[in-house]
Amino acid sequence: MSDFQTIKARDKKYFMNTYSPVDIAFEKGKGCYLTDSEGKTYLDFLAGIAVNCLGYDHPVFTNALTEQAHKVAVVSNYFYSEARGLMAEVLMRGTHLNKAFFGNSGAEANECAIKLARKYFYQRGENKYKIVSALHSFHGRTLATVTATGQEQYNKPFSPLPGGIGIYVPFNDIAALEKALSDPEVAAFMVEPIQCEGGIVPATKEYLEKARELTAANGQLLIFDEVQTGAARTGTFWAFEQYGVKPDIVSSAKGIGGGFPVSACMATDEVAAAWKPGDHGTTFGANPLACAVGYAVCTKLREPGFMEAVRENGEYLKEGLKKIVSPYVKDVRGMGLVVGMEMENEEIANKIYKTMLEKGFILNVCGHKVMRFVPPLIITKSEIDSMLEALKEVFEDL
Ligand SMILES: Cc1ncc(COP(=O)(O)O)c(C=O)c1O
Repeated sequence: MSDFQTIKARDKKYFMNTYSPVDIAFEKGKGCYLTDSEGKTYLDFLAGIAVNCLGYDHPVFTNALTEQAHKVAVVSNYFYSEARGLMAEVLMRGTHLNKAFFGNSGAEANECAIKLARKYFYQRGENKYKIVSALHSFHGRTLATVTATGQEQYNKPFSPLPGGIGIYVPFNDIAALEKALSDPEVAAFMVEPIQCEGGIVPATKEYLEKARELTAANGQLLIFDEVQTGAARTGTFWAFEQYGVKPDIVSSAKGIGGGFPVSACMATDEVAAAWKPGDHGTTFGANPLACAVGYAVCTKLREPGFMEAVRENGEYLKEGLKKIVSPYVKDVRGMGLVVGMEMENEEIANKIYKTMLEKGFILNVCGHKVMRFVPPLIITKSEIDSMLEALKEVFEDL
């Protein structure tokens, strides 16, 4: 591997300026640890932003990847593939969802969800096409999903934005939702069970229950964006299971491939029946490599005891964070291993993030001032302890 300055200079010269990376290039990972180009090791509480649920180089991931690569990586969706059906089944197992479509990113899964909702009403001859979503939400970077994203910073420069999307309601506000959904042209309400990029803000149970009740009463669809909360991240395979709410369409990505790019848009039979061959498609979506890896990873996540450990360690992490007493801490919240620690302001949050990185712990800041903890789901209590110990020192020196 080249030295860091060479890596950085090449990147600056040839890679588009859409990110502002810190001065680290990771070379390899094992378990919950990453090693950079200079040989420094970090304990990872970010996991590629809630992606690497089995950590790095886990045998389930690496073996599935290499075994399938030796067989066949990509075939056209003009043909059947065993991995495609297996992946769909493991994702929807035990739920009310019946059919899946695969893409490569969360944005694509949401794009598919929006198209499916519109197609559902189109083929019924109903004039319902508007997509309502929440303020401070995040749904992706394609034009449709960036418009559904309720944060102006992500979509304003890309006007004109697609019509009928970008009708926002304040999150967790039942009265506002009731009003927005009273428009007969609304096709669907798209919502994250936990607003993750927005600062780890869980929806209340009453809010999601009411969203289900209202959409059903109005003949509208309910779409859950579980891109970040899916794949056992919250301690159940899907967050909607804990809320006891059954959305018509669920999108997911990130953890379902354990580090290999794959995303899914899932729906009930009734809604999925709106698709006809030719309505939607993608070259790489549902490729055997992604589906074989995703199937192996999700099968592991569904092993007895796995999700119990996520719940237990998530509570352990949350309790540990709550023990840090500081005037800078405003709140600690989350479900399973998606936990946020809200700080007084952005400056403090960024300072903590940078100091933790220097100490060898990877976190990040979301929603401007919330420290985000989304470690690999295999994180242990002793690894949590060592992060908490370092964090306590950082707070003492603030
Ligand atoms: C809830 C949610 N939806 C959609 C996306 C977009 O996913 P991707 O970056 O894979 O397109 C993200 C990414 O952070 C997300 O958190």
